[in-house]
Amino acid sequence: MRALAVHPGRPHSAHVADIPEPTLAEPGHRWVRNGHGVKVRTLQVGVDATDGEINEALYGLAPEGADELVLGHEVFGVVEEVGVSVKSVRPGDLVTCTVRRPGKSIYDQIGRNDITSDRTYYERGICLINGFLSAKFVDDEEYIVRVPRGLKEIGVLSEPASVCAKGIEQAYLAQRRLQVWEPKLAFVMGAGQIGQLTTMMLRLRGLEVYTLARGENPGLKQELIEAFGATYISTRHESVQQLAGRVGAPDLIFEATGNAQVAFDCMSALGLNGALVWTSVTGGEKLAEVPVNKINLDWVLGNKLLVGSVNGNRYHFERGLADLALGESMYPGVIRRLLTHRIDGIDDPAGIMRQLEDGTALKTYVSLSEIPD
Ligand code: BGC
Ligand code: ZN
Repeated sequence: MRALAVHPGRPHSAHVADIPEPTLAEPGHRWVRNGHGVKVRTLQVGVDATDGEINEALYGLAPEGADELVLGHEVFGVVEEVGVSVKSVRPGDLVTCTVRRPGKSIYDQIGRNDITSDRTYYERGICLINGFLSAKFVDDEEYIVRVPRGLKEIGVLSEPASVCAKGIEQAYLAQRRLQVWEPKLAFVMGAGQIGQLTTMMLRLRGLEVYTLARGENPGLKQELIEAFGATYISTRHESVQQLAGRVGAPDLIFEATGNAQVAFDCMSALGLNGALVWTSVTGGEKLAEVPVNKINLDWVLGNKLLVGSVNGNRYHFERGLADLALGESMYPGVIRRLLTHRIDGIDDPAGIMRQLEDGTALKTYVSLSEIPD
């Protein structure tokens, strides 16, 4: 079976590899319980900056004993075959699959591998387990999440939606420290796929949302933000601090630009008792000057909260899918416009990786098989 793989640690090594087709008996990794395997035909796989970083050799690890890693962690597929004990899905069901698999910590033991405290973590297509960029894959039913048939056009957004749903939920959970928290105004930093979906989810919760991004010609990005009923702000014309001065300091800031400078800059715009969610995964060794006294004072006197959030478990996938369904009925036809770049098949690995550098692309995804009716 052909798969899109890299040699982790070797820059620009994306290539087509030949790997054995997984079976329920030999799933290709150790996380499948006997009888609980689900074999899935891959329909579409989204690619994102993480895949780019792995191909740049900044991130990513091959499975133990192997020298290549199959990429792909944002999957949408159709169930082909199930093990004798599988109850939650049937052949023909549309599904997605979570990314991280449990290690040893207490959090892994209680189904919260998304917040593992193990240093080593296992993620399909990223760290130590092959990903989904191949015709078929097998996983345990525990990690397979059903996608409603009504969402078949946007099923490939399930994983990014889970990341947004988790980040938002983390803020609401942590803010229970305040006894009452009714956020009204939110800033979303970044208008890429995570910024867009988060903007929609916060609008669905009734917040007034300003989405800030750097783009000179935002075009579609701005159009979609406005279609979700939010306001697009170009930071070339108005900084986050200026915006806070004009419309008020926000109760919530969700940072998803991929730029650590922005993550620190927006600390000085957050309102009293506010929450800031950081989701950017930033490689590299950049240094910067930060107004430490001012920020420290504001944050202490303002009882402010910073929470980092990564990954998502099946519960966050379900929440993300519920929001995609609500968003689809609230803003019909808007979400699918995020799917800007479709690539058919994996024949051109370098071309797929190059497409990730296109700043105007919102979602680039690889189609491996047509979606069944
Ligand atoms: C993925 C997450 C993953 C994170 C860190 C992101 O691109 O969407 O599932 O946990 O990278 O590896
Ligand atoms: Zn990702």
